[in-house]
Amino acid sequence: MTYRYILDLIDDGLIRKGKVLDLGCGPGTAATLLSSLGFDVEAVDILDQQIYSANDSGTVSFIKSDIRSFPIKKGSYDFIHARNVLHFLSKDEIRETIRRMYAGLKPKGVLYFNVSGDKDGWKEKSKNVTFLTDEEVALYVENPIKKGNKPVHSKVIRFGFGTTMRGAYKYTHTISYTVVR
Ligand SMILES: C[S@@+](CC[C@H](N)C(=O)[O-])C[C@H]1O[C@@H](n2cnc3c(N)ncnc32)[C@H](O)[C@@H]1O
Repeated sequence: MTYRYILDLIDDGLIRKGKVLDLGCGPGTAATLLSSLGFDVEAVDILDQQIYSANDSGTVSFIKSDIRSFPIKKGSYDFIHARNVLHFLSKDEIRETIRRMYAGLKPKGVLYFNVSGDKDGWKEKSKNVTFLTDEEVALYVENPIKKGNKPVHSKVIRFGFGTTMRGAYKYTHTISYTVVR
């Protein structure tokens, strides 16, 4: 199951029941899963999305917005989730969005996101998404969040292909981060 990691984080007691922000939510699969478990979810996407929350015990409110300008209220969320979306942004925007997501967490809140890495020359094959080198990942991701914070896990997932608003891409490799504030 694609979102198994969310259930694991809940089972491990890392994500407390409460308020969730899902950035780049797409059709809302993660948002709906979380609301069915009793979370109250704000789900944001730049495109109109139909998100069904009937029979869920929590709520999902969909907000049509560009995550680059969506105001993330500081210290507000128990869980912030941004899966398969940051690679649409420029490097500076990725860095700024990570900073704002982190600031949006309550103390002990959990942030999950992934970025695309440049590995094995895949960058050359995939022109339509933003890749970060290992050095940039350290600079953009690890440095801003490591001080006094506890990265829970980081792992690598590979994709075969996909499409973005910037066109088709293939052979990306994504690095996922889960961070506890
Ligand atoms: C590959 S889908 C990922 C959907 C979902 N997060 C998941 O993991 O299944 C990427 C989503 O990001 C949205 N998106 C791309 N750029 C965005 C932006 N700047 N602001 C908000 N949403 C954006 C797209 O509309 C699309 O729904």
